[in-house]
Amino acid sequence: MEKYNAIYRQSIDNKEVFWKEQAAQLHWFKAPKTILSQNEKGFYRWFADGEINTCYLCLDQQVEQGRGEQIALIYDSPVTHKIKKYSYRELLDLVSRFAGGLQTAGIRKGDTVVIYMPMIPQAVIAMLACARIGAIHSVVFGGFAPHELAMRIDDALPKAIISASYGVEFDKTIPYKPLVDRAIEEALHKPPVHIFYERTPGYDELDGISEMDYNQLLLSEPVPCVPVLSGDPLYILYTSGTTGKPKGIIRDHGGYATALKFSMDHIYDARPGEVYWAASDVGWVVGHSYIVYGPLLQGCTTILYEGKPIRTPDAAAFWRVISEHRVNVMFTAPTAIRAIKKEDHEGEGTRHYDLSSLKYLFLAGERCDPATYHWVKDLLQIPVIDHWWQTETGWPMVGLMMGHDHLPPKAGSAGLPVCGYEIHVISEDGVELGKGKEGYIAAKLPLPPGCLPTLWKNDDRFIAGYLQHFPGYYQTGDGGYLDEEGYCYIMGRVDDVINVSGHRLSTGEMEELVASHPAIAECAVMGIADELRGQRPIALVVLKDGHQIEEEIIEEELVALIREKIGAVAYFRNAAIAKRLPKTRSGKILRKTIRQIADGESFALPSTIDDPKILDEIREILEERKVGIAFNKV
Ligand code: COA
Ligand code: AMP
Repeated sequence: MEKYNAIYRQSIDNKEVFWKEQAAQLHWFKAPKTILSQNEKGFYRWFADGEINTCYLCLDQQVEQGRGEQIALIYDSPVTHKIKKYSYRELLDLVSRFAGGLQTAGIRKGDTVVIYMPMIPQAVIAMLACARIGAIHSVVFGGFAPHELAMRIDDALPKAIISASYGVEFDKTIPYKPLVDRAIEEALHKPPVHIFYERTPGYDELDGISEMDYNQLLLSEPVPCVPVLSGDPLYILYTSGTTGKPKGIIRDHGGYATALKFSMDHIYDARPGEVYWAASDVGWVVGHSYIVYGPLLQGCTTILYEGKPIRTPDAAAFWRVISEHRVNVMFTAPTAIRAIKKEDHEGEGTRHYDLSSLKYLFLAGERCDPATYHWVKDLLQIPVIDHWWQTETGWPMVGLMMGHDHLPPKAGSAGLPVCGYEIHVISEDGVELGKGKEGYIAAKLPLPPGCLPTLWKNDDRFIAGYLQHFPGYYQTGDGGYLDEEGYCYIMGRVDDVINVSGHRLSTGEMEELVASHPAIAECAVMGIADELRGQRPIALVVLKDGHQIEEEIIEEELVALIREKIGAVAYFRNAAIAKRLPKTRSGKILRKTIRQIADGESFALPSTIDDPKILDEIREILEERKVGIAFNKV
């Protein structure tokens, strides 16, 4: 571990020198003199006086360095049977024109723009165009329902919203315009400019006044990059917290670009000219960092894949993409691998494709269970690297730095702390725990460049949610432990956040919605283990006195409510009626214990439990309904 220790210690012991050197690899309009500073609230800032533009790094600089004819982006869409390639020069031209169009529509540096689009190149062009003119984009995952979009509109207060005709889910077409219209109707803030990309000419009826045609904007004169301060926001990405209101994670230009460049070189070992594929969605942080910004500023070819790991057309869909586009580095979520494994356990699909270009498979989004790890590693015979990070950090916190050395992965572990992150395991009352002991995972401040500087217009929530619990540390919200060699084992969230098929969702928000049902007196929503999706939410509800509703009916209504308010992606399928919920003597619902019963985990009886007999009742309810892997039905 000597080589790893040397670079890692340097990044911690001499952080300013270390990150100054990394930043120097980027093109700055004005190089930063101040490397690390703190603002009046004590929040850390990287490269405060530097001037840069992330779009410049991704496009203009690549063309200037001779990559104009190299393919920058491959759009591969099995759901629409299309493959389209864009060279760096073509992408630069489209982005510069669309940026000009945005300016004509009145969008200026510092304005916010919401992007609600499927996985099409026009989404990437819109993101880069915002970056080009210093506007702040906020991409909302296309699977979210209008209510979720409305909440984000009301928080980001966008000047424009950019959308497209429809998304395609397997063989189902989902029209977006009605969803956008409903969101705008619900939101208090009405974005003055609406821009729609018509995937099929004539699909949407645009009013031509406030609703503009995306393609018209592309006819504008190209505009150059607007220099921004390093700390100016590049984007806001909303993520689920413990309450119904999503948190607006801010990402800056300069720190983020520095971190992404470092990660492409040192973690992913993706060289300029190589093909990098993150099979995620532009609506998630993985899409921002490793479909759009990371690969492009590294001069790689990135793949924008509009499809699923299975049924598009079959379980060999991923292998086809790797082989056809000669992918060198791939990133996906364990759930995608589990979906392939379920349909093609023998890995027959790999035998029809040449996968020799693939150097590594990186996995993140949820813990990679050892069974999935071994299956895919044996199948592909290449390093499979689980690595851990979050929307908040924007790039990996723990992993293996494949561009630096090839330390062995350990099944079930997300690897070693990456340069810049000092990872600690801490007890509830703030005591540092020894090796092998499970506790709260926290990172010592300051965090390295690229991580959230604060929450959008909400410093108080930033302090309360991340900094207050363990002073001097960033609280990650995850629990786990470190082994003797310092490998990190991330065991799951310690709050009301769950990961369903790699989609981050809030059970707290679902609980608020379930509780709004007129027949419900109280309820608990928990994430239970799911063989394919990692986790899925379930609800236990107690009816108000006098309400006699059949379980089937209330379940149906709650399923419809969550689908309507959050979206089908929540995968909320079960609500069971209980006479009462297990609680502590002070009245706190023991959600973790309910989850442990459903998951079949052994657990010590909570010492604070009010009435232990309730646990038997809960077990019976879950067993009768066959909810949870403990009861043999997923
Ligand atoms: N837009 C609209 N709806 C969407 C959507 C989107 N972008 N994504 C998912 N949905 C819908 C699905 O259509 C489905 O709707 P239904 O209940 O009407 O059928 C529902 O949400 C649940 O979707 P999902 O959980 O994705 O289940 P699935 O059976 O369609 O697919 C997997 C299962 C495992 C194949 C799929 O979840 C998958 O590919 N996961 C990998 C995700 C990933 O890579 N995440 C990376 C983040 S780093
Ligand atoms: P998101 O912000 O959507 O990227 O989700 C971040 C959360 O996903 C983390 O806080 C973890 O709970 C979980 N997560 C991501 N990657 C991993 C991993 N490799 N191992 C365990 N959990 C992970």
